[in-house]
Amino acid sequence: MTVQPTELEAQLDAIRQEAQQALAAANSLDLLEQLRVKYLGKKGPIPQVLGGMGKLDPGDRPRIGARANEVKEAIQTELEQRKIALQAAQLQAALESETLDVTMPGVYHPQGKVHPLNSIMDRVIDIFVGLGYTVAEGPEMETDYYNFEALNFLPDHPARDMQDTLFLPDGNILRTHTSSVQIRYMEENEPPVRIIMPGRCYRRDTVDATHTAVFHQIEFLAIDEGLTFTDLKGTLRMFLEQLFGEVPIRMRPSFFPFTEPSAEVDLQWKGRWLEIMGCGMVDPNVLKAVGYDPEVYTGFAGGLGVERLAAVLYQIDDIRRLYNSDLRFLKQF
Ligand code: DAH
Repeated sequence: MTVQPTELEAQLDAIRQEAQQALAAANSLDLLEQLRVKYLGKKGPIPQVLGGMGKLDPGDRPRIGARANEVKEAIQTELEQRKIALQAAQLQAALESETLDVTMPGVYHPQGKVHPLNSIMDRVIDIFVGLGYTVAEGPEMETDYYNFEALNFLPDHPARDMQDTLFLPDGNILRTHTSSVQIRYMEENEPPVRIIMPGRCYRRDTVDATHTAVFHQIEFLAIDEGLTFTDLKGTLRMFLEQLFGEVPIRMRPSFFPFTEPSAEVDLQWKGRWLEIMGCGMVDPNVLKAVGYDPEVYTGFAGGLGVERLAAVLYQIDDIRRLYNSDLRFLKQF
């Protein structure tokens, strides 16, 4: 018994119509997936119809095959359009249900701050960087050579007594000042030199309101041809003006083994003269120690204690407060 091609065509059209109606009515993505399996799956109605092609006249088969593909593609297209529409509707619904209430109280995350000692060091470094200096650093554990000898401290010179030193069992020391970095830097670099050296220092001091065994210094050093004491003075004026504003400053003669002449710098602050730093022209012996020719090069240097600077700038009566980690105190800065 043969089957009429029109019969199969009618069946395919019926499948198409039924599928289209079902898809139009589907209101969820789950349902859509079920319909896809039902109408386009291997066990769906289209393969079933095609199974009946064996009974067709061979000349009619290509036409029915093409018709089956048409129906399949039409269902496929419909399915995809429906899917896009349902996804959009789902998103819209989510947007409407998940509104953000901006008036609700937030979660408070307290913000950390830079410690006053670090912020002062940053400020000083910024000023010198603005003058063309770069930062140089060195180790906190030092040899006698870098901390003293190369800086023109003779072995038994009383100048060593000014810096109560912490000695380590192996004969090394904890650096008593950042001046050791001068030597290390100059050994490695040719002049001209313009460096700023921040860092931690150690001395065998009894802790009180103005002394701590661990403290910070910032030192600056410039070496070039033709540098004079006026360059030092101009640099100091520039530096202190940026930190304190236009305040009177004065220089008093002093002594450091690594500078000649040496001076102590005072500034007038809240009606009093305050000693703020040491400085001077780099001693020719220091230049010789690092292999610079003192007949060609001259230079100046200066060093200041950061805790002392903080005490003056922020009017802190006891520098131990800087180390207590008491947030009530630290929050003020
Ligand atoms: N290193 C000295 C100290 O710790 C401070 C100092 C004085 C540094 C004069 C200098 C300087 O560079 O020229 O007491």
